[in-house]
Amino acid sequence: MSVFPKDFLWGAATASYQVEGGFDADGKGLSNWDLFSHLPGTTYQGTNGDVAVDHYHRFREDVALMAELGMQTYRFSISWPRLLPQGRGEVNEAGIQFYSDLIDELLRHNIKPMITLYHWDLPQALQEEFGGWESREIVDAFDEYARLCYQRFGDRVELWSTFNETIVFIGMGYITGAHPPKLTDPKKGIQACHHVFLANARAVKSFREMKINGQIGFVNVLQPNDPISDSPEDRRACELAEGIFTHWLYDPVLKGEYPAELLAMAQQAFGVPYFAPGDEALLKGNIVDFIGLNYYKREMVAHNDDVEGYAINTSGQKGSGRELGFKGLFKLVRNPNGVYTDWDWEVYPQGLTDAIGRIVKRYGNIPIYITENGLGAKDPIVEGEVHDQPRIDYLRDHIQAIGAAIEQGADVRGYYPWSFIDLLSWLNGYQKQYGFVYVDHDNNLARKKKQSFGWYQRVIASHGEQL
Ligand code: BG6
Repeated sequence: MSVFPKDFLWGAATASYQVEGGFDADGKGLSNWDLFSHLPGTTYQGTNGDVAVDHYHRFREDVALMAELGMQTYRFSISWPRLLPQGRGEVNEAGIQFYSDLIDELLRHNIKPMITLYHWDLPQALQEEFGGWESREIVDAFDEYARLCYQRFGDRVELWSTFNETIVFIGMGYITGAHPPKLTDPKKGIQACHHVFLANARAVKSFREMKINGQIGFVNVLQPNDPISDSPEDRRACELAEGIFTHWLYDPVLKGEYPAELLAMAQQAFGVPYFAPGDEALLKGNIVDFIGLNYYKREMVAHNDDVEGYAINTSGQKGSGRELGFKGLFKLVRNPNGVYTDWDWEVYPQGLTDAIGRIVKRYGNIPIYITENGLGAKDPIVEGEVHDQPRIDYLRDHIQAIGAAIEQGADVRGYYPWSFIDLLSWLNGYQKQYGFVYVDHDNNLARKKKQSFGWYQRVIASHGEQL
């Protein structure tokens, strides 16, 4: 008998900027990524989402493929500037129509939509007007956008999440400078991150005030960190990494407060986060209904007296990156016994079971969705067929790892592999493929089912028994 509960949902995920294209179609405003990706040297070989895989014009064909795959749920994000070209104020009805039609098409095929409100494409107008996440004004603007979405789609959509992976868009936007707005300013980053937590809390509050019939959650990276040795220095370094990568991002949305020790450290070192009157109560009073976990890899951690900075492997040439270090705090190091992808990400399914266990231990038995999980690879084409057995192996092992977490008592309610279709990887272009569906960029973006498509179809049909 299947270990997956009867109403466990099988799905897949994408995000607006990575699939839609139509960057200026039908009144859409520009996003920060529409500009950033056109700056020289920011993305792999200058790739951008201007056209992406043209999901904006081909969503009906894509939903038909989702239905054929047997998907019971689909996680996608809304492009904020498609609805509100200036970030607030005037509504672009054509943008509303697009998502409304997409939702209707999904429901017609019995596919439950899960909406992400923010998957990194900020209206550029708000970046220019007040510095985007750096300003407290963003909290009102985000609430206006969230309310608009609830009002227009809340009658048909039950599963919502506010943010995707704050650590990435804030960490890379404000600390490493690899995402927009391309800053390396921890002080601004920490305060911007605080505004994200406030915006989340306000949007959760509005969701409840508007009595939307559904659940609202927050999606985080799930990255278990393990010390490279048993030495007290490495263990302490690992605790710090776990604190910064995990507790800093999860505590405010699941406990309504920051981890005390780290909060004191940040305020002493940088003088932030600054709390305005009412912030504490807002966070405390608006805990999310569920947590979405995006799991790809774990990291090994060592104490660090020498390394500062990092280099990202964006080419898929093994070993071309250099792992992250914060001098005096910790560094990420390679596991000598680990298995790594071509992008130097450790493949470690056991880490998913372990990390879910750590979440349950710290936050209690909260509802969990695995909102992303997948293998980025260059899939070979042999005699016209897309062969992606390594992806099948990766997903099978991770589904088993979820099964193990469920057997240990975790309340995991759904699985959304990344991604439904090959799409734009923010910094790695179209060469880093994740999908069940291949897109031929040399042939008018034609869709083609991969080997993994038939495999996942059987997984869903057997409710996870046939792996
Ligand atoms: C997550 C994001 O960080 O990982 C996705 O939510 C992203 O948007 C995915 O595409 C895979 O990362 P990458 O860098 O391999 O595209």
